[in-house]
Amino acid sequence: MNAIIAVDNISKKYPGKQPVIALDRVSLQVNDGELFGLIGPDGAGKTSLFRILATLLLPDEGTGRIDSKDVVADYMEIRKTTGYMPGRFSLYQDLTVEENLKFFADVFNTTVESNYDIIKDIYTQIEPFKKRRAGKLSGGMKQKLALCCVLVHKPGVLILDEPTTGVDPVSRKEFWNMLKQLKKQGITIIASTPYMDEASLCDRIALIQSGKILTVDSPEKIVSNYPFRLYAVKSKNNYMLLEHLRTRENVRRSYIFGEYLHVVFRGTDESLGTGIFEKKEIQPTIEDCFMQLMEQSPMQQVTE
Ligand SMILES: Nc1ncnc2c1ncn2[C@@H]1O[C@H](COP(=O)(O)OP(=O)(O)OP(=O)(O)O)[C@@H](O)[C@H]1O
Ligand SMILES: [Mg+2]
Repeated sequence: MNAIIAVDNISKKYPGKQPVIALDRVSLQVNDGELFGLIGPDGAGKTSLFRILATLLLPDEGTGRIDSKDVVADYMEIRKTTGYMPGRFSLYQDLTVEENLKFFADVFNTTVESNYDIIKDIYTQIEPFKKRRAGKLSGGMKQKLALCCVLVHKPGVLILDEPTTGVDPVSRKEFWNMLKQLKKQGITIIASTPYMDEASLCDRIALIQSGKILTVDSPEKIVSNYPFRLYAVKSKNNYMLLEHLRTRENVRRSYIFGEYLHVVFRGTDESLGTGIFEKKEIQPTIEDCFMQLMEQSPMQQVTE
């Protein structure tokens, strides 16, 4: 497979009174036609990396290439072939749906008609509201319009920064289905998200924390590489149980996960004391993997 996006040892520091290392020698490759996820918490460095790829921010060191074009030297060409949707996508709130779309087509010196095939499936869903001002659309509809606007110049690569943040769960699902459809049309997509459940919708993901890539792999591989047996346990009072577990020598790690506690043991002693309602071995989620990898990372400050 060809890498269409190639990030090689990119670092970015924001100077100031308290300088921040936003990206620390980040490397990753996205293959042609892949739906790739960049998963990480607030401040992990997702936007910095995407702005560098979208040619809006200069890296301090390292190189980035999209379709063999350098993000610094060949920025004009990259802008023509790449669609970038920032976290807070700037639709023009006072323009109608169709006016917004026409505006973005004009910016790229093209027309809505000439590239209609690529946006058709998405646009027909918002077409009934084409005379409505963007500011009056629901969150889900805004996202659809925003996606149409970044697609209207027919980019081969889409860079989407947290496209589903703040969008209701049904619209989130719809949005990912649209991305799957776009992938079928041959578009390569890199999207960031803080939602771990969206990781499983990607072909491959990179987990990022404090400017460092913790791992890059398919969600299935990341889960299967989890090195421990993981248990879900429950008691009448999970908070008290958590306090108790954290004093036990044989418990390596325990944390609240929905209505359960997730527990990893140090060795073969898997006893938990009394008061346990339920204990079952489970498959780790991406979130469990993330927590394990964060703990392993030398950058991570252990506060417990
Ligand atoms: N212009 C800036 N000046 C100074 N520090 C910045 C600037 N932009 C980002 N940072 C810092 O760099 C780090 C990485 O930020 P970045 O926005 O890339 O992360 P992110 O993963 O997109 O986070 P978020 O979930 O908040 O969008 C953070 O610590 C952030 O506070
Ligand atoms: Mg961000």
